[in-house]
Amino acid sequence: MPLQLPATAADYRRLARARLPRFLFDYVDGGAGEEQTLRANEADWAKVILRQRVLVDVEGVDTGAVLAGQACDMPLALAPVGLAGMMARRGEVQAARAAAAAGVPFTLSTVGICPLQEIQRAVARPAWFQLYMLRDRGIVQALLQRAWDAGCRTLVFTVDLPLPGLRHRDIRNGLSAGTARARLGRALDLLGHPAWTWDVALRGKPHAFGSLADHVPDARDMDAFKAWVDAQFDPSVTWAGIDWLRGQWPGTLLLKGILDEDDARAAVRAGAQGLVVSNHGGRQLDGAASTASRLPAIVQAVGAQAEVLVDGGIRGGVDVFRALALGARGVLVGRPWVWALAAAGERGLADLLQRWRQELRLAMTLAGVTRVADIRATHLDRSHP
Ligand code: FNR
Repeated sequence: MPLQLPATAADYRRLARARLPRFLFDYVDGGAGEEQTLRANEADWAKVILRQRVLVDVEGVDTGAVLAGQACDMPLALAPVGLAGMMARRGEVQAARAAAAAGVPFTLSTVGICPLQEIQRAVARPAWFQLYMLRDRGIVQALLQRAWDAGCRTLVFTVDLPLPGLRHRDIRNGLSAGTARARLGRALDLLGHPAWTWDVALRGKPHAFGSLADHVPDARDMDAFKAWVDAQFDPSVTWAGIDWLRGQWPGTLLLKGILDEDDARAAVRAGAQGLVVSNHGGRQLDGAASTASRLPAIVQAVGAQAEVLVDGGIRGGVDVFRALALGARGVLVGRPWVWALAAAGERGLADLLQRWRQELRLAMTLAGVTRVADIRATHLDRSHP
């Protein structure tokens, strides 16, 4: 690697690609099917054109915002990412520290490696907790109770994964195949990445799905955990399941994975305080619309009753501004935080978040708006096709 410093998410992606075993890099980087939705997510933010305004007093630009009732230094949260703890040693703890230093929420995935308690011991800022509906509702209740006891007050309930999507890169890399050939392929991959293998695979143990560890019978290794989790995803859940969930969780409920106005209205009726317009970063239904293209209609449908957040393809502070101009209250960020963490740990992620805040501040300055709450459609240049 040349001696240049990383400046963007793409720079960290390149560094992560060099450091991580290929099966892990591809697990993060890839999407479902032909990855059309994954590409559209990124490409469609670039089509949102901003108005440059001049000679407005922009001395006091403030990127502060409130997300799910929590004050944040910018309108951004780290999205839940399964297995993130494998990207760096005790990766979720490092990420939560970087998020706390940047004044933004960290969301722990149901299939994170570090337990919520380990994270809450390391940082004062309460994490958000992401949950999938599991067939065993007793486990769901136990997880909710533990999250509440750990001080978590925001539940991100993901509704776009009745079953895991088909990700071709993972199939090619033998990610979930327990065959001897797949195991050999992964072992060779590790040999080619000794720094990661030493730092994370050997010194970063235990590697289990931290929140689920007490519930998985006979879990010997990650393959056994994964097989258990895959069998626990419950494709029979309906809106009645959300009513049940609402009764179990006294805190803030955000439904993540809404891409349709009718579903957004149903989410509000079911008592969600907010929703995340998301297609799971293009990892589920390939061929679904980009989130940038769906956001305005969903804001129009429920923006007055619910906090609308968005994720998918956001790659810098200017994209955060674009999302807000299209009506979102804030954004979640997935792959970029994992790339920065994999490339340079807590320091790398802290650096990236600081850069994004700087970019957002500059975008606000050059668009002539000083408060996040005042970013709106009037900052868009509608003369472009
Ligand atoms: C995810 N995502 C995700 N979402 C969720 O609710 N629970 C999870 O465990 C995971 N796991 C996960 C793993 C990996 C490797 C990725 C890349 C994504 C989806 C994530 O929260 C978010 O919706 C997308 O990542 C947003 O898109 P970008 O920012 O990655 O383009």
